[in-house]
Amino acid sequence: MTVIAIDGPAASGKSSVARGLAQQLGFSFINTGAMYRAAAWHVLNSGADPHSPASVTTAILAADIRTGFENRQSFIEIGGRRPYEQLRDEGVNRAVSAVASVPAVRERLVREFRTLARFGDCVVEGRDIGSVVFPDSPCKFYLDASPEVRQFRRNAQGQRDEVAARDRIDSSRRTAPLTIAPDATVIDTTELGLDEVMAAIRETLLAKGLPACQRT
Ligand code: DC
Repeated sequence: MTVIAIDGPAASGKSSVARGLAQQLGFSFINTGAMYRAAAWHVLNSGADPHSPASVTTAILAADIRTGFENRQSFIEIGGRRPYEQLRDEGVNRAVSAVASVPAVRERLVREFRTLARFGDCVVEGRDIGSVVFPDSPCKFYLDASPEVRQFRRNAQGQRDEVAARDRIDSSRRTAPLTIAPDATVIDTTELGLDEVMAAIRETLLAKGLPACQRT
């Protein structure tokens, strides 16, 4: 079973790259950012205070969470509802870093990620995938881009998202902060297009002898 871990800050291109790469390789795609967003969405819906770790913990422990794959892409269902476009709401953007910093949330979701990865080869994107969730993966990438370009990408998507503020919280939290795993390949995507980033990753994977990379 191969896990390709792709980490990086907000709007570094992780999700698009991970999704595209999974398609090219015939792997499943696990979008862990979407899972943390769903947790934040649930916390807000349940009336809990996203900035109170105790309140978030109570809401998550009581939540009925189910995850799985649909067309080789991960989904999350909470209380029988599957959020999609709600995950990009401004309220979720504002609350998600605080919710994701609560250990009970991370423990609950990391369990789901590891269970999902048992189904087969996958590309997993996030913040702590190479450092904490799958530290034994030999295929770790860290995507980065200048703060200006990342904020520009979010704005161009029509989203209100304070990228720098989220990065600060994601990088400074005590549990599993955003960090570059020592054995990760770092790719600066500031001046690269999606295809170029995917090609760079596949080249690295080929050099590591990952046979799936020769398939397409
Ligand atoms: O990648 P994204 O912007 O959709 O992620 C949303 C938030 O979720 C991000 O601000 C931090 C958190 N997150 C995390 O803490 N750990 C992960 N593996 C993925 C996301």
